[in-house]
Amino acid sequence: TRTIDLATIPGDGIGPEVVAEAIAVLRAATAGEAEIATTEYPFSAAHYLATGAILTDDDLASLARHEAIVLGAVGGDPRDPKLAGGIIERGLLLRLRFAFDHYVNLRPTRLLPGVKSPLAAPGDVDFVVVREGTEGPYVGNGGAIRVGTPHEIANEVSVNTAYGVERVVRYAFELAERRRKKLTLVHKTNVLTNAGTLWSRLVRAEAANHPQVDWDYLHVDAATIFLVTDPARFDVIVTDNLFGDILTDLAGAISGGIGLAASGNINPDGAFPSMFEPVHGSAPDIAGQQKADPTAAILSTALLLDHLGLPDAARRIEAAVAADLAERGTASRTTSQVGAAITARVSAH
Ligand code: NAD
Ligand code: IPM
Ligand code: MN
Repeated sequence: TRTIDLATIPGDGIGPEVVAEAIAVLRAATAGEAEIATTEYPFSAAHYLATGAILTDDDLASLARHEAIVLGAVGGDPRDPKLAGGIIERGLLLRLRFAFDHYVNLRPTRLLPGVKSPLAAPGDVDFVVVREGTEGPYVGNGGAIRVGTPHEIANEVSVNTAYGVERVVRYAFELAERRRKKLTLVHKTNVLTNAGTLWSRLVRAEAANHPQVDWDYLHVDAATIFLVTDPARFDVIVTDNLFGDILTDLAGAISGGIGLAASGNINPDGAFPSMFEPVHGSAPDIAGQQKADPTAAILSTALLLDHLGLPDAARRIEAAVAADLAERGTASRTTSQVGAAITARVSAH
């Protein structure tokens, strides 16, 4: 049997709680087909506060030797001045996404049977946000001058390269080809003229290579309207790093909650390990209480299996989650109870 060599970064808050369940489900889903070997890495806000280290070049080199990474969530107490300015988010999470060229941040949304949406008439919600993962306002191209004075200037430049936009747009069209052949570019071309022009032009150019894909465009503000009033209209959404971040928390909320939203930070070329994580964060408000829903982390491992070429095991995880959700109701269960229930369903398959 094949051995899958994974790095895990449980992280902070509810991260370790949900990763434990995700790995248990992953093991059950691949039993007989693959052996899951895990190496746990301590990178987190807590590790930084204890040691002063966030993520070194050597750490990156160690992680690069694994086939894929499973991450829980990172981020500590927002009031802690030692963590101000997103030092962990930038030094750890974004550093990994950039260093491993995770240019596709894949965030699927499905409203599964039995799951309650806050929308009165959500319809058949099944879309994927292809969020650009290595550019936009995330790159740290900015600065501040006259800090603390009334004339302070603080800039955060959104970086959009033809190379970076073209490759994620191509991925999104190829994904649309395999799905319902509908693609929506979401941007803000009426205000962010320079970046918007680049995105629009490259989408139009790529569309010529995919005549079967029907594509349209929405401004990001209007997209939030339709995600609430008619989310079933979407199939593949392609958008920049920041718009994609915001839209996917909304997508989680309309499809049963952020506790169900999975993601993959994908390096499609396979030059670097891809990284799979729930969309949610470390949830300090519920951490350590076994209150977190591990479903998002569990579904992220299905994305991992697809990426590593084990689609049957991925479908087993999705089926087990769907069955659990269908019967979940309103009974309150601990993180481990949800994980154990899904593990049992996967094993019984
Ligand atoms: P969050 O996603 O951690 O929490 C938002 C709300 O959703 C909270 O009420 C939380 O209790 C709830 N929630 C989140 N996950 C849940 C789950 N699995 N089950 C049930 N409820 C859940 O977002 P936040 O509060 O904005 O961020 C907290 C910290 O996490 C910050 O430091 C932030 O930077 C970080 N963060 C990290 C990641 C990541 O590591 N990928 C992602 C988002 C936020
Ligand atoms: C996410 C998170 C991150 C992001 C933060 C923690 C840097 O919100 O994964 O959605 O903005 O990408
Ligand atoms: Mn986010």
